[in-house]
Amino acid sequence: MDDLTMMQLAYQAAQQADPAATWENPRVGTVIVKDGAVIATGYHHQFGHQHAEVAAMNQVEHPADLVGATMYVTLEPCAHVGKVGACADALVAAKLGRVVIGQGDPNPHVSGRGVAKLQQAGIAVTLLNQQGSAVLNPAFHHFFETKRPYVTLKLAQSVDGFIAAKAGHPTKLTDDRADVAIHQQRAQMSAIMVGSETALADAPQLTVRHVPITHQQPWRVIVDRRGRLQNHPAFFDDRTLIYTTNSTFAQQVPQAVSFDGELGSLLDDLGQRGIQSLLVEGGGALVRAFLAANLWQRFDIYQTDAVLGTGIKGVVGNQGPVATQTRVGNALHQVIYREAK
Ligand SMILES: NC(=O)c1ccc[n+]([C@@H]2O[C@H](COP(=O)([O-])OP(=O)(O)OC[C@H]3O[C@@H](n4cnc5c(N)ncnc54)[C@H](OP(=O)(O)O)[C@@H]3O)[C@@H](O)[C@H]2O)c1
Repeated sequence: MDDLTMMQLAYQAAQQADPAATWENPRVGTVIVKDGAVIATGYHHQFGHQHAEVAAMNQVEHPADLVGATMYVTLEPCAHVGKVGACADALVAAKLGRVVIGQGDPNPHVSGRGVAKLQQAGIAVTLLNQQGSAVLNPAFHHFFETKRPYVTLKLAQSVDGFIAAKAGHPTKLTDDRADVAIHQQRAQMSAIMVGSETALADAPQLTVRHVPITHQQPWRVIVDRRGRLQNHPAFFDDRTLIYTTNSTFAQQVPQAVSFDGELGSLLDDLGQRGIQSLLVEGGGALVRAFLAANLWQRFDIYQTDAVLGTGIKGVVGNQGPVATQTRVGNALHQVIYREAK
């Protein structure tokens, strides 16, 4: 059993995790090997709960079996005490002999420190420098590498390319089954954003419903440069940020955040607030602005069976090759990545 084969098993363990449940934590998998045999596997199940390394070690009945064992883990073990204790300390306490790591952790609180802590305790460490964790956790790695959230654009469109029948009137395009898929995607996000026109026309809740969540609701973000939401206090709650260039609005309402009107500056500010992933749910004008500025990583189009004949235009044009295409309810769900995979 070579290192690469065992690491594949660790990636398979990580894949069992539900990205909505781990939320802002990465999906991580672990395999423990002793005397040539796998004695435990584990993965991180849920945000705020035990990490993969501890989950695997807890599978081993006799602590003595961990002494001198080799652990394969897809991401560098953490070295800081967060919601749970530092994994590197637990590995040292268990007296593991060797730790093989798929990819270094991009989080500055961890990066290199997990490896150093293990080595200082005399544990042999092999860092494979693979990209498997980045593939499993694109938003987590993108956020720590760029200090901006991973941006997913999302629009539902009619067969004839409209996103709503008429300005000011919400149009339901997706059916209940497609809505569940959309809410599963919302459940993975740190924040959900709309343009001011959508906020005024639809008064969307921008919350996760239809699927259970164990973490807090994503932030609600509205881009309202002119400050047209000034007299709409229904949006002023402690999970909402309204980006505006209207200084009076910004001074009067704590939820209104002053910015220079540029989407790049907005993403910088969200990044500074620790927002890792952002779902831009429309409308068309805001999605087109993100596309034009090249400030997106992924675009999800729900091409529904609805026919509108007239209305507000969605997005036409070639944003890149469709990477995946799945039927959900009344929609064909197409995913496009800005950097083709
Ligand atoms: N089918 C779908 O998936 C879907 C999703 C959402 C909404 N909708 C529908 O879409 C309609 C609204 O769409 P819409 O395209 O008219 O408006 P929108 O994209 O929701 O909002 C447009 C407004 O966003 C603000 N904005 C802020 N930054 C911007 C930027 N960089 N570029 C462009 N605009 C920016 C602008 O106001 P300021 O200049 O004041 O900032 C602009 O007037 C609604 O009827 C809604 O029902 C459909």
